[in-house]
Amino acid sequence: MRDVQKQLQAFWDLRFGVPEYVYGTEPNQFLMQQAHHLARGGRVLCLADGEGRNGVWLARQGFKVQSVDISAQGIEKTQMLARQCGVELDTLVADVTTLDMGSTQWDGIVSIFLHLPAKARAELHRRVVRALKPGGVFVWEAYAPNQLALKTGGPRDAALLPGLDEVAIDFDSSTLQHAWTGLRPVQEGSLHTGIGAVTQLLVKKAAQPGA
Ligand SMILES: C[S@@+](CC[C@H](N)C(=O)[O-])C[C@H]1O[C@@H](n2cnc3c(N)ncnc32)[C@H](O)[C@@H]1O
Repeated sequence: MRDVQKQLQAFWDLRFGVPEYVYGTEPNQFLMQQAHHLARGGRVLCLADGEGRNGVWLARQGFKVQSVDISAQGIEKTQMLARQCGVELDTLVADVTTLDMGSTQWDGIVSIFLHLPAKARAELHRRVVRALKPGGVFVWEAYAPNQLALKTGGPRDAALLPGLDEVAIDFDSSTLQHAWTGLRPVQEGSLHTGIGAVTQLLVKKAAQPGA
């Protein structure tokens, strides 16, 4: 692991190294709203899944889930939550910016509150599209630039807070089923609490490549 990855891992291990689930154990609201777009019982990859609230919830809905995070502490808590809920999911400690997600592998890919620098984000999204099966969906939510004016969570660095236009260009516009930015109440653990400025995308890969 490179030094920068080690630093990132140390930061998130420290954050997750407490008994509390700092983003809660309930799933993200936008993911819950969009989950009906995922092929029933399909394979879902949860990128930067943190302490596992989203991956475990998807496993409870009958999906075959792989949960990936750079934090070993987060992955440990994910496995603990899965045991408590009586479900199984695959877990992996890895940096998603270098993760091999394969090609046409996944019915769904989920990225909730993963804040990457623009270049790394665009490159990841290019690989997400390749990794989805035809008809597969990508569910993405993150804080928006005006979250900086709020004190309800998210990074304090404007470079990590993309606006809707900045992130929408990562995808072919014909594949965007939902693209929205605005304020919503976020009650997701002690670190995401209150009105938040978010950006949301639902991307659906064409059912026939090239169609
Ligand atoms: C704000 S938390 C969100 C966690 C989870 N998605 C949720 O909604 O509860 C951001 C997560 O991104 C993970 N993360 C940040 N950069 C990463 C990277 N390059 N590779 C893998 N995970 C990363 C962190 O470890 C952390 O779990």
